Amino acid sequence: RLAQAMLCLDDFEPKAKRHLPKPLYGYIAGGSETNASLRKNVEAFQTYALRPRILQDVSTRSTETTLFGRTYAAPFGIAPMGISALMAYRGDIVLAAGAAQCGIPMIMSGSSLIRLEEVIAAAPATWFQAYLPGEPERIDALVDRVAAAGFTTLLLTVDTAVLSNRENNIRAGFSTPLRPSLALAWQGVTHPQWTIGTFLRTIARHGIPHFENSYATRGAPIIASNVMRDFGRRDHLNWSHLERIRNRWSGKLIVKGILHPDDAARAAETGADGVIVSNHGGRQLDGAITPLMALPEIVERLGDRIPIMIDGGFRRGTDVIKALALGARFVFVGRPFLYAAAVAGLPGVLRAAGILKAEIHSNMALLGVTTIEQVSSGHLVRT
Ligand code: FNR
Repeated sequence: RLAQAMLCLDDFEPKAKRHLPKPLYGYIAGGSETNASLRKNVEAFQTYALRPRILQDVSTRSTETTLFGRTYAAPFGIAPMGISALMAYRGDIVLAAGAAQCGIPMIMSGSSLIRLEEVIAAAPATWFQAYLPGEPERIDALVDRVAAAGFTTLLLTVDTAVLSNRENNIRAGFSTPLRPSLALAWQGVTHPQWTIGTFLRTIARHGIPHFENSYATRGAPIIASNVMRDFGRRDHLNWSHLERIRNRWSGKLIVKGILHPDDAARAAETGADGVIVSNHGGRQLDGAITPLMALPEIVERLGDRIPIMIDGGFRRGTDVIKALALGARFVFVGRPFLYAAAVAGLPGVLRAAGILKAEIHSNMALLGVTTIEQVSSGHLVRT
């Protein structure tokens, strides 16, 4: 019932803010430093206006689109988000199963708390996102494990050489390792639904949550491990490591976190099957260009060589359509899906996906197109 009361993606956030302990909500909602990129990501869509065509007979239309040889129900999927299972009971599985039911892709995070083998068993089409250090043995071990588990799509996130300065996390009381404290206990007492429905249920099933899929501290409990700070030699990661991964991984390889056309071109030359234009939801380099602004130059440079995807601030069907008109093939959405999973579990995820898909479906009619592929640069003007 709660899920059905949500009318747009933004409706999930205030519910999640009330439902989650303050440090956890703060971790999801926050960006880095001044939050400039976080704000701009959302505002950027106002830089463009849609230019509809009329009298097109839009009575039969479809939001379906193909990507890497698969047909998806809509041109969006769920972005990778770490520690989701602390926000929603078995959050990674809820998100993956919800996406599978809706016919959209879900990317599980390398900073997740549920073993990747368990997630893919629940939803075989799930993609895996890896953080990797510039250490060949650790790269090979994780890539081999992901392959053995049966994943066919691997993302390498490249905008996280070090963890950004997230002072808003500290202000909200989110720390890694998550240290038990009186303040934290008080958050538990004042958010009983989360404490009982998510936290105690998780402890009962899994014990203390562990980072299960990280190269750095595999199997380390969240309350003791320093996985968010212990990046190993992640700041050593360079193009030669991407080449190494490409040689070892035979599935689809996607590079996430690209903002410069030269990097997009180099990723394609190194054998990437796709790129995700992203500033990590405004959580890494503060003041980094918004993905929507970076997109046109990257599209111009890459042409049709490999699919160009994008994430950051997408909240409406019209946002998705604007990115498609600028040449993106696919869009990923982060925070709203995690809020949806936190407040309403699987029905919440289904509802969020349903809302965005329905918006795109009606927006297509109003724009005068019947297929996703018909959305073109002619439908857009810069304001
Ligand atoms: C993220 N993001 C992220 N990206 C990634 O590659 N690996 C990760 O583990 C995480 N973790 C993560 C946690 C949380 C709580 C958030 C909000 C984000 C970034 C994410 O994949 C994506 O790039 C942005 O979230 C997209 O922006 P929106 O849709 O949240 O505005």
